[in-house]
Amino acid sequence: MSDSAKIQLNKFELDSRIITGSENEKGFDITKLRPTTGHITLDPGYGNTGACMSDITFIDGEKGILRYRGYPIEQLAEKCKFTEICYLLLYGELPNSNQQELFSQKIKKEQNIHEDMKRFFDGFPITAHPMAILSAMVTSLSAYHSDTDITNPDKIDNDIIRLLGKVKSFAAFSYRKSHGLPFIYPQPELNYVENFLHMMFSDAQENYETDPILAEALNLLLILHADHEQNCSTSTVRMVGSSQANLHATISAGISALWGPLHGGANQRVIEMLEQIRDDGGDYKKYVNMAKDKNSDYKLFGFGHRVYKNYDPRAKVISQAAERVLKALNVDDPLMDIAKNLEHIALNDNYFVQRKLYPNVDFYSGIIYKAMGIPTNMFTVMFALGRLPGWLSHWREMITDPKSKINRPRQIYTGPILRNVKPVGDR
Ligand code: CMC
Repeated sequence: MSDSAKIQLNKFELDSRIITGSENEKGFDITKLRPTTGHITLDPGYGNTGACMSDITFIDGEKGILRYRGYPIEQLAEKCKFTEICYLLLYGELPNSNQQELFSQKIKKEQNIHEDMKRFFDGFPITAHPMAILSAMVTSLSAYHSDTDITNPDKIDNDIIRLLGKVKSFAAFSYRKSHGLPFIYPQPELNYVENFLHMMFSDAQENYETDPILAEALNLLLILHADHEQNCSTSTVRMVGSSQANLHATISAGISALWGPLHGGANQRVIEMLEQIRDDGGDYKKYVNMAKDKNSDYKLFGFGHRVYKNYDPRAKVISQAAERVLKALNVDDPLMDIAKNLEHIALNDNYFVQRKLYPNVDFYSGIIYKAMGIPTNMFTVMFALGRLPGWLSHWREMITDPKSKINRPRQIYTGPILRNVKPVGDR
């Protein structure tokens, strides 16, 4: 939907359309700004910049709302399996049981990796971070599969399904590698989540008995991470994919973007922070004060969000799940108490209240992963596994949009003005 508007910018007047989204979000169309005025916009961090229009995910950060394809995250988390969410994000509708069965079968067919690729794992040191292994393995798939024919919807679909099948195996193998354990192959009778747990935790002598509490918790976490519109890693996927780079390299770029501690890497940092507070005698107030101190660059990981200026709806679901899982597993984790104390302080302290800094998705997720026996350095890999269908859905939305262009922002140049080169001896 569009309306017209006149934007007055200093001495310039620009005829602009106002673009209105299905939830009444509004944006100025400034595609004619530079041709008309010779000026560009400057928006470091892109807080005011819409890079695309998208049908996939809706967030209202002020109200703390998150919906995939119109469905509230709370309902999806309660009622769905992760593979149903993958289907929903990719195809726009929740699958019926036949569609779901067929889709799961297709993913299962792709979950084995080329035998040669298993040898790649030998080349990594045992200390390698599993995110380094994951991004390298995903980009290596480009060596085994030709570039996606983006004019062929079936080929696009095959490439997407391949990644949904194989990334899970790479993730589990990266864990096995870093623990010096033999690789465990997926089993066809297990579903996506059960298979992942089997590939992580079975050993050569004994198959891992899936604990339904853990399977349910993992399913929930994957769903809550599955998409989050134009976040840093998804924008990276759109950026890299916009040059028509092949899909594996594109997703690998998304994985690398996710790794950063301000984004998906925050879940690892949260547990490290909670452990540091525990080892420091539990004095959490000291750390809150450090985070508030403008002379220190310390921050509380797991707090704050660019879009949510209200409680992150994912964090709400995860904090309740963390309580449930710890209770069901009879785990008494002192980190949970420290986390709750930090949250309480933060929600009542002026510094956090004024800046609208609430716990985000990464704040409680690590406590659940830890209780499941997943090591800290695997937390961001778990995030990547969850976010994969979101990246794939955005990539396909972009690549199949006939109006899609290579992403190429401009800049305001601030370097030296024209000068002449002197021969090396005269410098
Ligand atoms: N602890 C202490 N102060 C904070 C924090 C924090 N975690 N987050 C933001 N602030 C302060 C910040 O210093 C600034 O203060 P002032 O206005 O006095 O300069 C104000 O709050 C606004 O913050 P900002 O850095 O301008 O906000 P942003 O939108 O650029 O950054 C963020 C968002 C998530 C990167 C940031 O809040 C942060 O670094 N949080 C910790 C890392 C984290 O948990 N990341 C996971 C994000 S959610 C999952 C995901 O997207 O992957």
